[in-house]
Amino acid sequence: MSDHQGLLALISGSIDPEQVRKCQETAVAQLRDVVPELFASIPKLAPELRKAQGQRANEAKRQNEEVLATCKAWFEKAALESERSGAGFDATIPGKRPERGSLHPVTRVTRELEDLFTSMGYVVLDGPEVELDWYNFEALNIPRDHPARDMQDTFRCDPAGNVVLRTHTSPGQVRAMERMKPPFRAIVPGKVFRQETTDASHEHTFHQMEGLVVGKDLSVGHLIGAMKTLLRGVFGKEIEVRLRPGYFPFVEPGFELDARCPFCKEGCSVCKRSTWIELLPCGMVHPNVLKSGGIDPEQWSGFAFGLGLSRLVMLRYGIDDVRHLLSGDLRFLEQFS
Ligand code: FA5
Repeated sequence: MSDHQGLLALISGSIDPEQVRKCQETAVAQLRDVVPELFASIPKLAPELRKAQGQRANEAKRQNEEVLATCKAWFEKAALESERSGAGFDATIPGKRPERGSLHPVTRVTRELEDLFTSMGYVVLDGPEVELDWYNFEALNIPRDHPARDMQDTFRCDPAGNVVLRTHTSPGQVRAMERMKPPFRAIVPGKVFRQETTDASHEHTFHQMEGLVVGKDLSVGHLIGAMKTLLRGVFGKEIEVRLRPGYFPFVEPGFELDARCPFCKEGCSVCKRSTWIELLPCGMVHPNVLKSGGIDPEQWSGFAFGLGLSRLVMLRYGIDDVRHLLSGDLRFLEQFS
């Protein structure tokens, strides 16, 4: 057995970590000092001696690397055996705390609202984010070339323009009518998309929550009552709101419910210097929309609302720019953990 093989056998059979560590240190020193010296000496030798010197240098390098690999394997095996035997295990050392995530503020408010609405007999429905033009516009009484389409510039997904990213959650109204028999109450929370120039209160991707109630002899009184209950539930107190006429082709009459801006007294970038924030458009469902959903408007009536969920989250948490919400910035999100 060569010296080198004897050394490898010694390491493998050793039970003393100190002995193995010394072998390791010697091999490291050889690779650092002696082996480079051997290589450096080659050009200084007579040509007929260079080949043999090169072989010696390469062999020394290989042998020391093999010693290092054997030492490493020895330490790994020793660590595994020690772990298996339970030696060195201290049950009193505190464990590592896993990093915990937290719910996004939009998810948080959505869940609270879902609880509130389900307690009032609403069912929670989901709808597709990639929607047919029919549900997003046509069935809502907004035919092609209707000027109201300009209010919600959309992202089209096919050249013919039959498939769009939904611009609002209102397609959920018609889908709900198709799925459920009246009387019923439903909400449809979700993400919507618009081709928007973004600013502190406008994002291209934001959240809304549609609400729809279909029943017998519903009136604007029922609608206003439902809106007040909703806002009281959300804010836990009465907040200053105003109701003004609003135009949406799928409701008649239609209203805009605005909330007083919590960020200013005289106007700011969030409320566009008006001191009011557009929050909750609503109205009585247009008979044509009931027909689109297969419901007889002679027998049934309905009211609907489209809550600006992202704006509500802003009001709730005092967020002064809607673009923070989907920025993915952890410094912002960690404030809600
Ligand atoms: C609509 O989207 C109607 N579908 C709402 C509706 C439903 C009316 C049912 C009547 C009956 P509007 O475009 O105004 O309406 O948007 C509704 C709310 O979404 C606004 O009040 C506002 O709070 C919010 N919103 C609108 N555009 C943006 C945007 N770019 N970024 C963030 N929030 C927005």
